[in-house]
Amino acid sequence: MSLVTTKEMFRKAYDGGYAVGAFNVNNMEIIQGITEAAGELRSPLILQVSAGARKYANHTYLTGLVEAALIENDIPIALHLDHGADFEICRSCIDGGFTSVMIDASRLPFEENIALTRQVAEYAHERGVVVEAELGQLSGVEDDVNVSAEDAAYTHPDEVEEFVSRTGVDSLAIAIGTSHGAFKFKPGQKPQLRFDILEEIARRIPGFPIVLHGASSVSPEYVKIIQENGGNLADAIGIPEDMLRQAAKSAVCKINIDSDLRLAMTAGVRQVLYNDPSVFDPREYLKAGRANVKALVAHKIVNVLGSNGKA
Ligand code: G3H
Ligand code: 13P
Ligand code: ZN
Repeated sequence: MSLVTTKEMFRKAYDGGYAVGAFNVNNMEIIQGITEAAGELRSPLILQVSAGARKYANHTYLTGLVEAALIENDIPIALHLDHGADFEICRSCIDGGFTSVMIDASRLPFEENIALTRQVAEYAHERGVVVEAELGQLSGVEDDVNVSAEDAAYTHPDEVEEFVSRTGVDSLAIAIGTSHGAFKFKPGQKPQLRFDILEEIARRIPGFPIVLHGASSVSPEYVKIIQENGGNLADAIGIPEDMLRQAAKSAVCKINIDSDLRLAMTAGVRQVLYNDPSVFDPREYLKAGRANVKALVAHKIVNVLGSNGKA
């Protein structure tokens, strides 16, 4: 199967009350772990690439690895640019084989966000590529942008209808209390999401696919392994999985997960190297990381996203 856009995936997910996982990829083992899990569970899949991933692994290597995953796994896969900061990076990914891009102009004032998003949407649509945009701002760190909790802003339901119709965008990322990274809430703070805002947004733009960024649950299992193997993640807190499950049943059609993959990969590598410091074959520790990534993605597909059997 060749790469697909998210159009059909989102329509089915919206109607079916589940979400498609969008997993960040940076190397071969992460791509293999994710796609093997989704392939075995017959789940549609979004593989997403950040500017940092392109800088680390190179666009050509990443698209080549995704091509290989498509040959190995007979499931619908979309290749998506995560947090495209400007027109240029979106253009480069659209011209370079991606089927979906995110233009993240959420840092800009409303009118400027609309203008840039619309420019990308026009360029993308002429070439059969779909576009995600963002309204509202999540806290946390992504690439070189660090948004403090004080500067984060929930999405205003009043703005979504106008934004969607004037930009022509295909899906919308909103801010309802999720955030990027492994430290999403302060120690002692009760994790909370603004489901009231999500419901109001869904009411204003019925049938329109909503995206949740910053949706790692910071699996305690992997945090514990990293702690026991010389790491320090004492204050890591994620989004509880029952909240994500609830979101997946609603208008949320895409759930972004990166930090959980990092934790799973790192826990595997650390465990091998800590248990036996004489190991020097990279395959030994990368294999353990890849196995954790696969187990994590299988767990998300079945217990959080509900996308198993939907390919
Ligand atoms: O939302 C951002 C993703 O977690 C990507 O992170 O920019 O460090 O690759 P990165
Ligand atoms: P996490 O840091 O919660 O995994 O979020 C990832 C994300 O939103 C990528 O765009
Ligand atoms: Zn994000």
